[in-house]
Amino acid sequence: MNNQSIFNEIREKIDIVDLIGEYVPLVQKGRNFFGVCPFHNDTNPSMSVSRDKQIYKCFSCGASGNIFTFIRDYEHMDMKDVLELLAPRAGVTLNTTNIQRKTTKYDKFYEIYNLTNKFYQNNINTKDGMAAKEYLKNRQISEEVIKEFEIGLSLDSMDSLTKVLTKKGYDILTLDKIGLSSNNHDLFINRIMVPIHDISGRVVAFSGRIYNKKSDHKYVNTKETEIFRKGTILYNYHRCKETARRSKYVIVMEGYMDVFRAASVDIKNVVAIMGTALTIEQANLIKKLSNNVYLCLDGDAPGQKAMLSIGEELEKNGLNVKIITLTNNEDPDTYILKYGKEGFEDQVEKAISFSDFKLQSLKKGVNFASDLELSNYVNSVIREASSIEDEIRREIILKKLALETNLSYNTLEKRLNEYLEKRQTKNVVIKELKPNNKLSKYEKAVYGMIYAILTDYKYFKKFQDESLYFVDQKTRYLLMEIEYYYKKFGNIEIPDFYTYLLEKGELLELYNNIINYVDINNISEEAVNDFMSVIRSYNLRLEINRLTEMMKKQTNDLEKAKIAERIKALRIGE
Ligand code: UTP
Ligand code: MN
Repeated sequence: MNNQSIFNEIREKIDIVDLIGEYVPLVQKGRNFFGVCPFHNDTNPSMSVSRDKQIYKCFSCGASGNIFTFIRDYEHMDMKDVLELLAPRAGVTLNTTNIQRKTTKYDKFYEIYNLTNKFYQNNINTKDGMAAKEYLKNRQISEEVIKEFEIGLSLDSMDSLTKVLTKKGYDILTLDKIGLSSNNHDLFINRIMVPIHDISGRVVAFSGRIYNKKSDHKYVNTKETEIFRKGTILYNYHRCKETARRSKYVIVMEGYMDVFRAASVDIKNVVAIMGTALTIEQANLIKKLSNNVYLCLDGDAPGQKAMLSIGEELEKNGLNVKIITLTNNEDPDTYILKYGKEGFEDQVEKAISFSDFKLQSLKKGVNFASDLELSNYVNSVIREASSIEDEIRREIILKKLALETNLSYNTLEKRLNEYLEKRQTKNVVIKELKPNNKLSKYEKAVYGMIYAILTDYKYFKKFQDESLYFVDQKTRYLLMEIEYYYKKFGNIEIPDFYTYLLEKGELLELYNNIINYVDINNISEEAVNDFMSVIRSYNLRLEINRLTEMMKKQTNDLEKAKIAERIKALRIGE
């Protein structure tokens, strides 16, 4: 984080209790404030906000952080926008160096794409574009939509774009490299051109659709280049950020036409996956827009299948997934054309939960007369049911299943309970946050020691002077970061170090555990001495164990005796 000082300055001037209090009603209990956590579905006040530490923490879902992460996750903004939102409130003026992005070697590529986009857009408005316009008109794509999505045309010529660009001084090798030409020829010829923007809104690729001639390829797409990695982009992402945030959900569709059609009836919180599977990066992008996502892919079999895998991926990322199934192999484009905005909004209203969708699709094509298929089906339904939190819903599913399969409810319930037990043990492993009472004496001392070092540099010195060390590598890395921060900024404020660690995944998690475990009032000279003596004897014990192992392996009696001496000496210190 290169803007650390700016973040620190803003953080100091905004009280976290005041800020979060504007989003979530908070009630004071003791030193802390409590409210309903906005980051998971809940009605209990499981989120605590600390004025002392200037951090928040949810005891149910584990969300925690400082003012910046709160706004980022609540408003689904990126950090740059968060900074711009909070700076005026803190009375801090951002100069351009605080927020300006660095110039890169890719700037020229973006420039070329920008020019190309203008060229294509111009073409469609000339007489060469008449047939393309006619095609779009027949598909009821309006002039506004053409403008909004910057739809253009590549000419029916082998090299018109290449000529324009080389005349402007761009060399042919660059054009090849970024996927616009090949051997002095254009790659897109006589197609309706749809520009594809990256998440910051820069044109980085094109997709060209046939419109007046037959071709084996309906769309021709830009190959992957240094500025275009397909798995990191969603079509229409940069345009829909604001609307998705405001409407509190985002709809995922399959293709450009779907996005155009939705936009033409003023439904704009839409992204398209461009007919591919969903990568983890794309799932994260969607999460940045909203926690609520509606999947509305084509109504055909592949579309339905894709919704299963994509929905799974999104749920894994903690999103609430709902499914819109369109009838009769429609896609959002044709559906909206037929039934209009209201018709589509009805479908959004009627969307089913992802788990219901999975249950429905489990049943498809099962041959109930086959024992094997039937038992597979029963098992998969029960497994699915075991992942549902709501006990009543689980019972309903089992009752229906019992009726449907003629099996006894008790048998099914027994199996359900087996799955539920398995799931519970699994969950414990997944949850990284150790409950405080499960921490060992040593871990408590390590947490306390780190916390002490965070509050005062002198404890770092003290720790080092005694040549103590942390056994766990992650903790050692964290200590290195703390040392670095001290050297750079002189002192550490608990919430600011949060900002610093934001991009350091695992360390952030550890830091989180530490600051939420240790009570700020427990740090005293005496406490630190206690922590250090626990760590000292732990380190000693490890050393003794290591030497004992060494001694066992040693065959030379003299050497053996030497090691025994060292162990004895260490035991005295223990
Ligand atoms: P569709 O076939 O549903 O296209 O493919 P579409 O957007 O509805 O367009 P129309 O209605 O046929 O004009 C969905 C998406 O899959 C990608 C495109 O991103 C498309 O929008 N696709 C499809 C390709 O990249 N290449 C293809 O040949 C087909
Ligand atoms: Mn289509």
